[in-house]
Amino acid sequence: MENLDQLVQDAVSAFANASDGAQLEQAKAGFLGKSGSLTERLKGLGKLPADERKQVGAEINRAKTAIETALEARREALREAHLFEQLAAEALDVTLPGRGLHQGGLHPVSRTLERIEALFRSVGFIVADGPEIETDWHNFTALNTPENHPARSMHDTFYIEGRDDVLLRTHTSPVQIRSMLAHVERHASEGTMPDIRLIAPGRVYRVDSDATHSPMFHQIEGLWVGEDVSFADLKGVIADFLRKFFESDDLQVRFRPSFFPFTEPSAEIDVAFMGGALKGRWLEIAGCGLVHPNVMRFGGVDPERYSGFAFGMGLDRLTMLRYGINDLRLFFEGDLRFLSQFR
Ligand code: DAH
Repeated sequence: MENLDQLVQDAVSAFANASDGAQLEQAKAGFLGKSGSLTERLKGLGKLPADERKQVGAEINRAKTAIETALEARREALREAHLFEQLAAEALDVTLPGRGLHQGGLHPVSRTLERIEALFRSVGFIVADGPEIETDWHNFTALNTPENHPARSMHDTFYIEGRDDVLLRTHTSPVQIRSMLAHVERHASEGTMPDIRLIAPGRVYRVDSDATHSPMFHQIEGLWVGEDVSFADLKGVIADFLRKFFESDDLQVRFRPSFFPFTEPSAEIDVAFMGGALKGRWLEIAGCGLVHPNVMRFGGVDPERYSGFAFGMGLDRLTMLRYGINDLRLFFEGDLRFLSQFR
């Protein structure tokens, strides 16, 4: 049947003209749908004489198969075209250099702390800590600091609003009290007092802010309490630590008489380098002394039987000296140009 071939031709070109899936389905309906032109032909079969019906039916079916084949081919072509379009849109330029994974690193203050902890652990000290929100009693009273001491004023100390018995600790020294009390309690049943050897690093807070002072900074407390602990032990431990820390055997270490309420006698520790930019200048890096008898008593330790030394060092200052950094604020600004130099 000639017009059936024409119908197939029309279908093929209608499918070819469809430029997306929706248009193609619409074109399909025109031929194969409920009232599509091919469907109409099938419906008309019934009106034909019986002897023609078989042959015409077979031809219509052939035409139907041809149209369906053309439809499927066009569907496939459109799918492929869509895929290529998508691939082109999501194209990846594999010749671009990769962005890489940026490796982070420890903050210089953390690095310094790890180093200090390792050095003190190597001589039998443990690492202790205490709360940053501290009681006035642990921070001042138990450290033999009188009621009217200037450090207790609002001018120097951050208090917690609405309370005058709680504050942000101004130094790591309250850990001395906490550690002695905890230690004594733990060993109370033994009747003996094994020695306490610890360092206590951490954040401390003061109302102060300029190139060399930050309202938050870091200290490391040290404490050794036992039988016959003397100033000679203090000197030995500190000088040994400082020479190892600065990797300098000829580092000069000096103990300069000073005053702290919680030690007696008290001293300031200065160091001087034999070379480098700071050669020959005395630099103050810590306070220290023999633990005051009143402090021992507040910690539950009998000062008649035991003695001890304590020291407090500025961790940020030690870090600055070790790496040659001149502005303390760099530590707390989070600037990667600074921090990435310590990776
Ligand atoms: N707590 C003192 C401060 O913050 C430092 C200090 C001095 C700690 C002498 C000590 C010490 O343990 O014995 O300035």
